[in-house]
Amino acid sequence: MNILNIYASLNGQTEKIAMEIEQACVTKGCSVTTVNVGKQAQEIDLLKSDLTFIGSGVYTWLPGKRMLKWIGGQLASARDSNLILPASPRLPGRFACVYCTYAGPHTGEAEATPAIKYMGQLFDHLGIAVAAEWAIPSAFVPENMRHMNTSGRLGDIEGRPDKNDLKQINERTGGLIDSLRLALEVETPLN
Ligand SMILES: Cc1cc2nc3c(=O)[nH]c(=O)nc-3n(C[C@H](O)[C@H](O)[C@H](O)COP(=O)(O)O)c2cc1C
Repeated sequence: MNILNIYASLNGQTEKIAMEIEQACVTKGCSVTTVNVGKQAQEIDLLKSDLTFIGSGVYTWLPGKRMLKWIGGQLASARDSNLILPASPRLPGRFACVYCTYAGPHTGEAEATPAIKYMGQLFDHLGIAVAAEWAIPSAFVPENMRHMNTSGRLGDIEGRPDKNDLKQINERTGGLIDSLRLALEVETPLN
């Protein structure tokens, strides 16, 4: 299976998840390309990969600025290439897993949902089915914001994502890959 692993990360929290996903993909015998769109903001052909992971931290209910900018560029280019069609026909054998890391200090998981849905719409518009959505509790890193790690809707999230979170991400990644193997065998690949 050919996997693309895209992420943006301001303080390194989402990067921990992206690295775990990369490791899990390798363990499952997949070929994986990891891209930090904050550092390598190049346009990517999203139609080539069987499965794409995309993740970002949450900033005021949405992905961070670098991810928003990259999505804007991808969308503009997809429109120019006439890839955004009425009814967004499903592409066979093309899937995405959309996730965010978030602290949910005020309204909890409701802060993560718009960010996940926003990123997922890029794939949905292209005809790529969103196969999984993950909201991953993750602490504030800046010192002056860390008080919210113990006083918000999610309770005590200091130190997260921790070892257990990463283990779970590893297992969920493996489970998702296994769940899509049959669909990829029976559906016609585009590349
Ligand atoms: C300036 C700033 C603003 C944040 N705003 C939110 C927010 O509105 N909602 C939320 O759930 N988490 C918020 N967070 C927490 C981050 O989403 C969380 O720490 C995330 O894991 C950061 O990921 P990154 O370091 O990969 O960018 C904020 C963090 C910072 C530093």
